[in-house]
Amino acid sequence: MPTVSILDTDKAFEVKEGEILYDSLNDRGYELPHGCLSGSCGACRVEIISGKENLSQPGVVEKNTIEALQDEFKKNHGESFIVGKHLRLSCRARISGDVCLKPIK
Ligand code: FES
Repeated sequence: MPTVSILDTDKAFEVKEGEILYDSLNDRGYELPHGCLSGSCGACRVEIISGKENLSQPGVVEKNTIEALQDEFKKNHGESFIVGKHLRLSCRARISGDVCLKPIK
């Protein structure tokens, strides 16, 4: 079973392959921020620290929302805030292997 761990915490959850990242954590008592749960609002964003290859490819809606988030982060925090960060929307990404993530406020 894949493990999803949360950076800088002692939290690590065994999840089922094919589960949606947000749902897998929520079902195990770890609630990420959320809104629409359909890939449009960006509230469930996370930075993938490791295991990005173990998540499904983002669809068009998720890609568009991530681009908008990156523009917002650049505007509010400067270009360096997003350099090297791999963002995903937890309500869209399906798990196929181990992942370590960090929620982004
Ligand atoms: S909860 Fe809105 S994009 Fe995930």
